Amino acid sequence: LRLVVLVSGSGSNLQALIDAATDPGAPFRVVAVGADRDGTLGLERAVGNGIPTFVCRVPDYTTRADWDEALARLISDAAPDLVVSAGFMKVLGPTVLARHRVINTHPALLPSFPGAHGVRDAMAHGVRVTGCTCHWVDAGVDTGAIIDQRAVRIEDDDTVETLHERIKVLERDMLVEVVRALAQHRTWQGPDGLSSGRE
Ligand code: GRF
Repeated sequence: LRLVVLVSGSGSNLQALIDAATDPGAPFRVVAVGADRDGTLGLERAVGNGIPTFVCRVPDYTTRADWDEALARLISDAAPDLVVSAGFMKVLGPTVLARHRVINTHPALLPSFPGAHGVRDAMAHGVRVTGCTCHWVDAGVDTGAIIDQRAVRIEDDDTVETLHERIKVLERDMLVEVVRALAQHRTWQGPDGLSSGRE
């Protein structure tokens, strides 16, 4: 399974996929890494592992639709079977979603606490258990069909940072397991299946 991974930040989820892909017989590999900004650790990790990168910045385009089309084309150039949004802090547009099959990882138990501050919002609400979710990406914000989840207990002395770090440990494992299972057709292939004839 050819993966394109989209990142905005530190890329620790990306690193987990890169590492897992080095296992002999791993059924997937990361063929390109894309970002919406320059100079991130995620891009550095890709370069350090000899993986081609591209950057597609919203402010470089006149309209959001132009950005969406440019991003869809850059992704297509790498001919992926699956796109993984791993800490990519932009909502993907209709062109990317029409042409590519995309999964996302989110640091909360969806459908609770969608959006950019899932960890903070869960703490602020006072829930005792939160976690992470891997889901198909649709036109909404963190609304697509759920593939897998992991639960994490919130401790009394947690800060947003300590809690997010514990979530990310499970998030990385979950993401690798989901991608492996999708590559081996062992888990749910999404509402329209992996061989749905998309470009
Ligand atoms: C992850 O928790 C992701 O779900 C969230 O941001 C974090 C990205 O971490 N949206 P990294 O860049 O993979 O280290």
